[in-house]
Amino acid sequence: MTVAEIHFHNQLSEDNFPTMVEEVLAGLTAKPKYCSPKYLYDQKGSELFETICELPEYYPTRTEEAILARAMPEIAALAGEDATLVEFGSGASRKVRLLLESLSIQRYLGIDISREFLIESTRRLAADYPWLEVHAACADFTRGVALPEVIDPKRLVGFFPGSSIGNFTPEAAEGFLNSLHQLLPPGSGLLVGVDLVKDHQILEAAYNDADGVTAEFNLNLLDHLRRKLGIAFHRERFHHRAFFNAEESRIEMHLDSRTAQVLQLKGKTIRLREGESIHTENSYKYSVSGFQSLAARAGFGSRRVWIDDQGLFSVHYLTSSPGMQLMMEHQSQQRP
Ligand code: AVI
Repeated sequence: MTVAEIHFHNQLSEDNFPTMVEEVLAGLTAKPKYCSPKYLYDQKGSELFETICELPEYYPTRTEEAILARAMPEIAALAGEDATLVEFGSGASRKVRLLLESLSIQRYLGIDISREFLIESTRRLAADYPWLEVHAACADFTRGVALPEVIDPKRLVGFFPGSSIGNFTPEAAEGFLNSLHQLLPPGSGLLVGVDLVKDHQILEAAYNDADGVTAEFNLNLLDHLRRKLGIAFHRERFHHRAFFNAEESRIEMHLDSRTAQVLQLKGKTIRLREGESIHTENSYKYSVSGFQSLAARAGFGSRRVWIDDQGLFSVHYLTSSPGMQLMMEHQSQQRP
């Protein structure tokens, strides 16, 4: 088998260790305790997430794929000719195949935090689409977005599928979209998958699957932190809990401690009471208009929204509006 060529850009410092120690320690000593969901995605976590996407209870992936397949001619018309496609949190780069088959795309950039997984999946993409120029950037886009120099920002279409935007708080989602708004010239497109508020049972089943894959995905975070930071976590001393918090309109995922325990990280003591939780993920669920308002506050106008027949999931095509600052400059130039 020939190994396909990709252009790899490392934007994650080789020595991410101090940042990780600092972030994890801040979360595990906070009240209540939390850990950033980005640490769910080591190699094993990324693979487990791909398995989650196939589960019967986990409706977002297949629903979004069906919406994309149906909407493709319209998406192609909106995206126009010869754009570079930039996918945030590209994971297995699966849904992007639908776009590559219908859109006039010459160049693809996948951005993901999980390096080996990113390299493997973009190599597969390059092998399957030999005409495509494939770039892979290993980066933590939750800390800001920068494009590798070779990517021309003038002809970009952003792709942020899977409702990963729901893993940000609404404030952080607005901040993230705002940073994309700074990056993309007016008129650029952004295709975003957004999970919708719905029957609580459907939501809770999606995060408490019968095979326990989501529980495994959540518990794998402890193995990741043990391996990278040396925290002596024992996964059997925790259990997975996920529920819909209606007030906040989000699924919360937690790891609850089965016993009182004391752990160490870099000479600091972390104490857990019996039943105390580490909050590991939020997955916000929006209404269509709620998400459109959020996007508008970040500088994006809504061009088109597609929803499946059951109203489970939405896909938004947003366009970057002229910046507030530009408009203000323009107004002041016009004043006598
Ligand atoms: C990646 N993200 C959109 C998933 C979600 O549904 O929030 C992650 C996930 N967590 C548990 N199951 C899936």
